Amino acid sequence: MCKSDSALVHQTVHSCLIQDFKQARTRRKMASHSILSILLFSAFIQATDAVCKDTSTLTDDERTIVEEHNKYRQKHEDTPDLCYGVSGEDVTFTADSMSIATFTPHSTGKAFGENKGNIGQPGSYFTNSEAYTSVIKSWYDYRSSDPDEGQQVIWKSTKQVNCGYGQSALTVQSTTFYSHFIFCQYFPPGNTLAGAQDIGVVADNIGEFIPVPCEKPTVANATVTPASATLNKDEIYTVTCNEGFVVLFDESESSKNLTCNIDGSFTPSVEVKCKKSDDSLAGPTGASPGSSVLSISVTVLAFLVLIFV
Ligand SMILES: *[C@@H]1O[C@H](CO)[C@@H](O)[C@H](O)[C@H]1NC(C)=O
Ligand SMILES: *[C@@H]1O[C@H](CO)[C@@H](O)[C@H](O)[C@H]1NC(C)=O
Repeated sequence: MCKSDSALVHQTVHSCLIQDFKQARTRRKMASHSILSILLFSAFIQATDAVCKDTSTLTDDERTIVEEHNKYRQKHEDTPDLCYGVSGEDVTFTADSMSIATFTPHSTGKAFGENKGNIGQPGSYFTNSEAYTSVIKSWYDYRSSDPDEGQQVIWKSTKQVNCGYGQSALTVQSTTFYSHFIFCQYFPPGNTLAGAQDIGVVADNIGEFIPVPCEKPTVANATVTPASATLNKDEIYTVTCNEGFVVLFDESESSKNLTCNIDGSFTPSVEVKCKKSDDSLAGPTGASPGSSVLSISVTVLAFLVLIFV
């Protein structure tokens, strides 16, 4: 029986998990043809090392799921890409058969990690691709210091992901939100929400950020300083809207500082945009300095993102 041991390399941990999972079956093989079985056993461990769906057969949804996870994983050291897990091999994934009726509780007693999230908007459903992309982003962006949904996305030893969804129109205070309810399951697990045990601690299982320079943004009707094409961590681009242009949601400011983060993103993370002022104080012959404001476009996530833990 395998024991969790942080000194083991991840490959070994994974093999141990599979070994436990398939132990009974393996014992039967060993008993019947001992020598041949030892050879078969080795091959078996190799063969079940993350059974992945062939990338050429992935559906558009599955491709989005894998690519969006790997986009975040590639920001971290020692964090290999995930594949789309095949049901019934390393672990029996159940996300493909999830529906709105089964969304609320987490799976129990399972060897996989499991994330849940939903997203909706008034008027119509997002496409599946939009829904998966937004929910995976929200898991990653709002990860905590515990092995939660966000840490599961970038858990170093996880190799497979398998997702499903249900849809539902929910009316909240007379507005109908058209929502996707999304489940993703992972193996080896990086969270314990479905019952997985002995997964280790965050400090050992999350890779440091790979430093990436920040690229200078292009903002219409604005100047961006300094001129350098890229900045490093903690350096600042200042976006200043042209005269007579304003910024959507931040009327008190005429410029915005974007601080470069270690992963190539900025703080604040929202895109800065300038638009023509419709402020009546800005006369046709010249705007007062105070009339320039910055426009910040907020992502679709602002509509509704509820994370179920
Ligand atoms: C503002 O930016 C848009 C998009 O680049 C451009 O078409 C427009 O001419 C600009 N307006 C002014 C007054 O520079
Ligand atoms: C923006 O950054 C510059 C330095 O690049 C600094 O002088 C200025 O005070 C900052 N403005 C705000 C509003 O933080």
